[in-house]
Amino acid sequence: MSSALDSSKLKITKTTAPKTKLPNDQLVFGQSFTDHMLTIEWTAESGWGTPEIKPYGNLSLDPSSCVFHYAFELFEGLKAYKDSKGKIRMFRPDMNMKRMNKSAARICLPTFDSEELIKLIGELLKIDGAFIPQERGYSLYIRPTMIGTTAGLGVGTPDRALLFVICSPVGPYYKTGFKAVRLEATDYATRAWPGGVGDKKLGANYAPCIKPQLEAASRGYQQNLWLFGPEKNVTEVGTMNFFVVFQDKATGKKELVTAPLDGTILEGVTRDSILSLARERLDPSEWDVNERYCTITEIASKAESGELVEAFGAGTAAVVSPIKEIGYNGTAINVPLLPGEQSGPLTKQIADWIAELQYGVVESEWSRVV
Ligand code: COI
Repeated sequence: MSSALDSSKLKITKTTAPKTKLPNDQLVFGQSFTDHMLTIEWTAESGWGTPEIKPYGNLSLDPSSCVFHYAFELFEGLKAYKDSKGKIRMFRPDMNMKRMNKSAARICLPTFDSEELIKLIGELLKIDGAFIPQERGYSLYIRPTMIGTTAGLGVGTPDRALLFVICSPVGPYYKTGFKAVRLEATDYATRAWPGGVGDKKLGANYAPCIKPQLEAASRGYQQNLWLFGPEKNVTEVGTMNFFVVFQDKATGKKELVTAPLDGTILEGVTRDSILSLARERLDPSEWDVNERYCTITEIASKAESGELVEAFGAGTAAVVSPIKEIGYNGTAINVPLLPGEQSGPLTKQIADWIAELQYGVVESEWSRVV
């Protein structure tokens, strides 16, 4: 009998050596972790085993485990917030669980009942709640991960897996609030391609992007703007989804554009949240919100005609990350910013809208109280 993931079987072992908590101003993204972690083993014979919350610590794995050789690894990133009453809130965890299951299915790792894992993560958050900073701009970054642990070098379906969840208290991605970045439009390396796995959150999608990032950095750019195909469609920016705002000179109408989910684009939760909020809250007589292809040539020509008004990246870690310049073919495409500020008006508005929901200032079903 293969068991389903069952949160009621949870076993808890508390740490006897609690860590000292860092003050908020010393938090660096993903560098410090809470006292505990959640682990659940899976085997093909028995299914999901006993979920355990235990002290954060090293894993012990056979060096032949398939994760080390054939990249059987996937992960998620979501955040928990503490509201003004001290309640812990997770932001849209159902979206992350859905995507995690899609990633698992794609690389033949086991799927699970999303609500059960959300409950288990909730228990971990309650135990490590003191690590969740309350101040605006601060949160707990939650990193659910699944790896294939089958020992042996044969290439095949893993019959053993480990799901674990670790948590890192984090501050604003940029210490000084928003800081607009410079991107290098990259066409010599491809992040994702049709029929590939660029829409899944697999570790294997990330490692090959570091070299192009270093190359861009050597020329003074913070991130790559990933282009695809002979048309040079703009797909993503660094590890984030890409958004651009145009304004038609003749009509004055504005358009918020992001690439469509065609299998090459990560199905970002922040991307989805931005599209929903924009469609719900922006005045349709002034705005169009479109998931469509947009080429670097269109961006360059709209910059030339004064119709490029804003651009930003969107992801869980930074939420929104404003863009001030795109280097393409030896020329600089300048993206306007508000005078004396580090972003355009919509980027700022969206960051505020999302923060109000995340911190429970505005109640919404996206914010789930633990
Ligand atoms: C995010 O923007 O949330 C990411 O995907 C970054 C993460 C890989 C650190």
